[in-house]
Amino acid sequence: MKKRKLRYVVANFKMNPEAPAKAIALVKAIKAGVKKITSVHVVVAPSHVHIPLTAKFTGTKLFSLGAQNAGVAPFGAYTGEVSPTQLKHLKVKYSILGHSERRALGEDNLLINKKVLATLGAGLSPIVCIGESTRDKAGTYLDFLKEEIEQSLKDVSASALKKVILAYEPIWAIGKSSDEAMRPADIHETTLFIRKVLSDMAGKSIAFSIPILYGGSVAPENARAIITDGTVDGLLVGHASLDAVLFTSIVQTVHDAT
Ligand code: PGA
Repeated sequence: MKKRKLRYVVANFKMNPEAPAKAIALVKAIKAGVKKITSVHVVVAPSHVHIPLTAKFTGTKLFSLGAQNAGVAPFGAYTGEVSPTQLKHLKVKYSILGHSERRALGEDNLLINKKVLATLGAGLSPIVCIGESTRDKAGTYLDFLKEEIEQSLKDVSASALKKVILAYEPIWAIGKSSDEAMRPADIHETTLFIRKVLSDMAGKSIAFSIPILYGGSVAPENARAIITDGTVDGLLVGHASLDAVLFTSIVQTVHDAT
C-alpha cells in the first residue's frame, strides 16, 4: 500500500473562546472528530491560560498541543511573558511565532528570530509565520517574504531547521470567507518561491524537509484545492477551528486529498 504523506493541520484559536469550559469542550470535540484520521498531524493552539486545562486531552502521536506565542528566554525578568521552557513543562510541542496579529502589535523579525532560537533551545518546534500585507505587480512582496524568512531564521543551525515549520499567511487573506482565500495557483507559486529561499539558505534537502503550511480563510470548501493545487504540506486554521465540526471536516478533507 502506498505510504501517505504526513500533513499538518494547526488550529489557532487566537484569543478564543472566552470561558475555560468552552476551550476544554472544543479540544475534546476536535480530538473525538479526528481520532480515526491517520495521515494528518493535528495541533491545537489554545490561549496560554487554557493550555494547562486542555493538555491532558492531547499528547498522542498525531494530536499535539501548541501555543500561540513564546518568550525570548527560558526564564527571567520578563513581566507578562511566558517562556518556551514553561510551555514545554505543560506538554506543549509547537509554538506559533510571528503571527501577523503579533507583528501588528510591534513584533519584528529580530524579535521573532530571538523567539525562534529560544523555542528551539527549549525543544519545541516553532511554526514561523510569514506573509505580505499586499501584492504588487512588480513583485516587491517577494523581497519582503525573503527578508522575513532570512531574518526570522537567522542563526538557526541546519539540524534545528529540521524542527521548523513555516506558515505562509498572506495578511490580506486572513479572517475572510472561503472564496476570499488566496487562489491555489498563487499559493503554489509562492510555495515554490519559499522553497527556493530556504534552499539558498540551507540546501535543497533541508529546504524540502521543512513543512510549509498555508493559512488565511481556510474552510472545508477550499481545503482540498489548497492542499493539492497549492502544494502545501498543511494548513493553519483560524476562525474555522472554533467550530469542531468545520475543523474536523477540514482535517478529513486533507486526509482524503493526501
Ligand atoms: P483565519 O486565520 O483562518 O481566520 O483566516 C488564520 C490565521 O490567522 O492563522
